[in-house]
Amino acid sequence: MLWSKSLETGIAKIDEQHKELFKRVDALMDAGNKDRFKETLDFLGDYIVTHFSDEQKMQAEAKYPKAAIHKRYHDNYVIEFRKLREQFLKEGHTLAMSQAVNKNVIGWLKDHILIHDKEFATFYKNK
Ligand SMILES: [Fe+2]
Repeated sequence: MLWSKSLETGIAKIDEQHKELFKRVDALMDAGNKDRFKETLDFLGDYIVTHFSDEQKMQAEAKYPKAAIHKRYHDNYVIEFRKLREQFLKEGHTLAMSQAVNKNVIGWLKDHILIHDKEFATFYKNK
């Protein structure tokens, strides 16, 4: 899953972090064994929390009117991600797990960036 230009928000800090996120998701998809998968999953989980919190700080500073709802999207994602992690620890790296990563981790991320992060970027750049 390569980064594509269409995902760019135009805010350098956010774009850099998004690129890093995608790199880590790629590493997760490529993880060949159980230990590596768990390690990459944990690494990604930490990075998501850091990135979301940076984005939320920017939104608070910019007095973004949709900051609260945006935070809720982030919080829900973190919950979903933790559920996936739990599922992995219980069941291992199954086909269902790969499908869940595809749909819930990658699909959500792309949609979230394209819709909600871009909406914030438009607000931020027009301030
Ligand atoms: Fe976001």
